[in-house]
Amino acid sequence: MGLAWRMLANPSLKLIDPERAHSHTISFLSSIGEKTSGQFLLNQFYRSPKLPIEVFDLLFHHPLGLAAGFDKGAEALLSWPALGFSWSEYGGVTRYPQDGNPKPRMFRANKDRALVNNMGLNNPGASVVRDRLIARKVAERWPKSPVAANIGRSMKVDDEHVADDYSSTLDVLWDYADLFVLNISSPNTPGLRDLHEEDLLEGVLRSCIGIGRRKQASKPILLKLSPDSPNEEALDTARVAMGLGIDGFVATNTTVSRPIPLSTQSRKALAHDGGLSGRPLHGRTIEIIEMLFQETEGKVPIIGVGGIESCETAWNAITSGASLLQLYSSLVFNGPSIVSNIVRGLAKKTKESGFSGISEAVGYKHI
Ligand SMILES: Cc1cc2nc3c(=O)[nH]c(=O)nc-3n(C[C@H](O)[C@H](O)[C@H](O)COP(=O)(O)O)c2cc1C
Repeated sequence: MGLAWRMLANPSLKLIDPERAHSHTISFLSSIGEKTSGQFLLNQFYRSPKLPIEVFDLLFHHPLGLAAGFDKGAEALLSWPALGFSWSEYGGVTRYPQDGNPKPRMFRANKDRALVNNMGLNNPGASVVRDRLIARKVAERWPKSPVAANIGRSMKVDDEHVADDYSSTLDVLWDYADLFVLNISSPNTPGLRDLHEEDLLEGVLRSCIGIGRRKQASKPILLKLSPDSPNEEALDTARVAMGLGIDGFVATNTTVSRPIPLSTQSRKALAHDGGLSGRPLHGRTIEIIEMLFQETEGKVPIIGVGGIESCETAWNAITSGASLLQLYSSLVFNGPSIVSNIVRGLAKKTKESGFSGISEAVGYKHI
């Protein structure tokens, strides 16, 4: 299994184009991981220990989930728990189907343990994804662990209609996720980051939170932030969102900034346009988590994502103020064993610190 994963998902060892390798991985998982026998097998290799935490009135068996962008079309939802994740986020989904930006649009900087992607929210659109999810529910192929939906801006929609664009996707997917993440922070869709501007943001949030309030069951709606906003701007965004009743934050999306490359191969990868994820993002992600935790006085849950690749980086994010975590890039570079390794490490640290559970570690740095 380890070898199969390395061939499929870790093509830093192979000469496969990263996007093709990714779609092979999704096809592999959406066949193997959807079968009970496949789940059993995956679980034998990748099972994670339990380190429970309750957030948004939902029980997570441990804090670590799959970040948005990996399973854009919700094709492999049963694989993620089998690979050890306690929850997963599908999407980004937009109201209209879209192809995204021209290929190639995903690059690996191997030595830097970073990815650059310029996907541009390629996805089949909200209706197709919803139909897939209906079929999944009908066939009783729905995961027992929490599922989040990531909602993005359709490329063809102008500022005037953007609030409606987000809220109709939310409406379409409402019954098919436990929590929702509004992505206003991908760098690869023109105009998407303009949503950090107060008026546009207010429109989107009012419209989405309004949809949520009209539904019978209440579900958390979160806002995903950019690591590239200056501190004051990020705080303004957070204040506006809290004023309108946002339930939580995801910190952070990818960055347009670049580290000094560690090799010639990395230099070439990092020279491409797009958002950078992985190890070099971690420092800024932590700064944003810390800032948000202080601003919210720890009262609004934060999901930490950006360069989570080890027990140390995960613990850093939790003690900075994240209640839940996600990863993407380190799955590509390390394979799924990274998940159970991190959770095992977190369980050890929780015990060594004398905490009765991981929730006691959330924001511990600030005490
Ligand atoms: C190829 C790729 C596609 C992504 N697509 C999305 C997306 O559709 N929506 C979103 O909010 N974030 C998206 N992200 C950002 C990730 O969810 C995450 O915030 C970021 O990669 C940082 O985490 P990491 O350092 O563990 O990779 C994407 C990231 C990558 C690498």
